[in-house]
Amino acid sequence: MSVLSGKKVLLAVTAGIAAYKTASLVRLFIKLDAEVKVIMTPASKDFITPLTLSTLSKNPVHSTFYDTKDDNELWNNHVDLGIWADYMLIAPASANTLSKMANGTCDNLLLATYLSAKCPVYFAPAMDLDMYIHSSTKQNLQKLQSFGNTMIPATSGELASGLVGEGRMAEPEDIVSFIEKDILSKLPLKGKKVLLTAGPTYEAIDPVRFIGNHSSGKMGFAIATVAADLGAEVFLISGPSQLQIKHSLVHRINVVSAAEMYQVVHKYFSEVDIAILSAAVADYTPKKTAPQKIKKTALALEIELSPTKDILASLGAIKQHQYLVGFALETNNELENAKSKLQRKNLDAIVLNSLQDEGAGFATDTNKITFIDNAMNEQSFELKSKVEVAKDIMNEIIKKTNA
Ligand code: CTP
Repeated sequence: MSVLSGKKVLLAVTAGIAAYKTASLVRLFIKLDAEVKVIMTPASKDFITPLTLSTLSKNPVHSTFYDTKDDNELWNNHVDLGIWADYMLIAPASANTLSKMANGTCDNLLLATYLSAKCPVYFAPAMDLDMYIHSSTKQNLQKLQSFGNTMIPATSGELASGLVGEGRMAEPEDIVSFIEKDILSKLPLKGKKVLLTAGPTYEAIDPVRFIGNHSSGKMGFAIATVAADLGAEVFLISGPSQLQIKHSLVHRINVVSAAEMYQVVHKYFSEVDIAILSAAVADYTPKKTAPQKIKKTALALEIELSPTKDILASLGAIKQHQYLVGFALETNNELENAKSKLQRKNLDAIVLNSLQDEGAGFATDTNKITFIDNAMNEQSFELKSKVEVAKDIMNEIIKKTNA
C-alpha cells in the first residue's frame, strides 16, 4: 500500500504545455487510493480542460475566486482548500507562477491557496531550457526551497520549443514515486519496529466455551495504523477481534489465549524498538481445559482458575533498549494506581483510561486518556476518537524517544 493511500492531494496546474500530463498524474494518485482535488491558473485551461481533470479527480475544479452558478456567485475558499490538503503539488510549475510564489504575489486562486497551505508543498518546474537556467529562475527555485517547499527537478529532453535540454517536467510516474519516497524518508518512525498487543484473550473452559472480555481491539488497531502511517514496521499481536487492518507495514499475528499471546510477544520483543501493550489480557485461566464439552447437571459447577502470566511485567523485567508502554484501565484512585503499575512493571510510560470518564472504555469509538512517563509527568487529553487518541499516544512516544 502506498503512503499516499487515503491522503488528500491538491494538484495545482499552471500554464505550460506539460499541463496535458496532469491527466495521468490525477489517475496515478487515484490509483494509489489518494483523494485528489485540482485547482488551475486561468491560463492553464488553454492546455487542458477543467472538465478532463474534474472527471478524472471526481471533484470540481476551480481556477477563480468566484464561480457563477444560476446567477449566484460562489466563493471558492482558498483557505479551506489549503487546510483540506495533506500534500500540495504544483505541476507543471511555470516560471511565472514560481516567480510569484517566491515573492508572495497572490493574484489568482492557485497562489492564494499556496500561501494558505499548511501541508508539505511539492513543485515540478517545467519551462524552456534558457528560462530554466536563467539567474532569476534559479534564484526563485532556491528561494522556494529555502521556504520549505520541495522541488521535483525538471529533467533533460526534447522541449516543446523543439530545443533539447533541461526544463522538461518530470514524468508523472516519477513525480508520484518522488513524492512517495520523500514522504517515507521524512516519517519519524521510519526504520523503527513496534510491537503491539490488542483485543481480548479467550481462555478455554472446554472445546466450545471460554472466559473472555468485551475488548474490541479498536484502540490497539488504531495505534497500529497510526504507527505504520508514521513509518514503523508494526507487529500487531491480536486476540480474537472482528476488526480488519490493511497496511503494508502492519503484520498481524492472531492469538487466542493469554499463554499464546505471551509466547508470541516474547518471540518478537528482542527485535523491536517500542512495545505498546494495549490488550485486555485475562488475568485468570481455567486450570484445566475439559477435553469434551462439559455436560449440564443439576449441581453447581466450579471452575478452578489459575493466574495467567503478566506479559507486560515480564517484558519490563527483561527490557533493554525497548521503550515499553502499558495501559491501565482504572475505576478508582486512577492516577495513583496507574503510577504504581508503571513502577511495579518497570515501564517507560503508561496510558491511563478511567472508566469514570464517559465515552472511554472498551466498545466505544472514543477514549479519554492520560499519558504518564517514568518521571511521573502527566499529560491529559480531551475525549477524542480512538484514531486521534492513537495519534496523541504516538506523538508522546516520539517526543520521549526522540524518534
Ligand atoms: N497485561 C499483560 N498481561 C496480563 C495482564 C495485563 O500484558 N496477563 C497488560 C495489559 O495489556 C495492560 C496492563 O498490563 O497494558 C494493565 O493491565 P491490568 O489488567 O489493568 O493490570 P494488572 O496488573 O492486572 O492490575 P489490576 O488487574 O490489579 O488492575
